[in-house]
Amino acid sequence: MKARIGIIGTGWVGTSVAFSTLLAGHARELWLYDQRGAVAEGEALDMADGAAFYPRCQVSAVPLAQMREADIVVLAAGRNGRPDESRLDLLRDNARIAAGLGRSLAGFGGIVIVVTNPVDVLTRVVTAASGLPPERVIGTGTLLDSARLRERLAMHLSVSPQSVHAQVVGEHGDSSVMLWSSAHVGGVPLRVWPGWPVDEEPTVAGHVRRAAYDVIQRKGATNHAIGLVTTELIGCIVNDERRLLPVSRVQTGACGVRGVALSLPALVGSSGAAQVLEPAMDDAEAQALAASAAVLDGAFKSLAG
Ligand code: 2OP
Repeated sequence: MKARIGIIGTGWVGTSVAFSTLLAGHARELWLYDQRGAVAEGEALDMADGAAFYPRCQVSAVPLAQMREADIVVLAAGRNGRPDESRLDLLRDNARIAAGLGRSLAGFGGIVIVVTNPVDVLTRVVTAASGLPPERVIGTGTLLDSARLRERLAMHLSVSPQSVHAQVVGEHGDSSVMLWSSAHVGGVPLRVWPGWPVDEEPTVAGHVRRAAYDVIQRKGATNHAIGLVTTELIGCIVNDERRLLPVSRVQTGACGVRGVALSLPALVGSSGAAQVLEPAMDDAEAQALAASAAVLDGAFKSLAG
């Protein structure tokens, strides 16, 4: 079933989400909005010129108010981080934008996907401002970190990333938690995989956490990987795939987390991130998740200051 998909913010990330969504064929209509109206119009015209090369979809720039008629709205509006900034450093600037967009989506009947950083705090900001149920405001969260972890483990082990099952939970950021204890390769626990050096785990974790900064300091932003990850999430919703994905949403008690938006495995389908599951964690991972929740809770509460 093809959907009406709206993308708010046609900067680096928003246009990557739009482009990969077109190629994936998830949308029958793709609506673009940017406060720089001419930029959104230009992006729509440019993408429409390539219509012969993607599954049928009507691409257009629309007024912000029309986003309420979409099935899925992607929030990619805000400024990018600088190389010397953490995702939480973006907080004040982007929280103001996210709160305004959240209010404009009050009573919205579809699903909101938050991409703008700091994505976990902004997922909570949009949930609060819109009044929508937590399962219908989904942050891309650690879906990208998990993809990065799987890709790096696959490279180390010389296997396909599709055969590596490893999750990152918590903050999409510096306090993210790699779930090494449950990682497995084709059913074989990673920690008993022949030749996997357990002492390599901190190094790989560092690579995953630094990946975005390594890109930003070279090209100014990341957009391709987050665009693909967001498109994967859109497809999961549009096709009601009911896949277990580590995505961010305001939690309502799983793993002892309540009220804070962070990533845990959730069943994602047409009704959003409806059911959150508690992943197996060892004591160190459970403590790191609690610490990540505290960092995110503190960041959200700093907005009131
Ligand atoms: C990323 O991890 C910047 O959050 C973005 O690519």
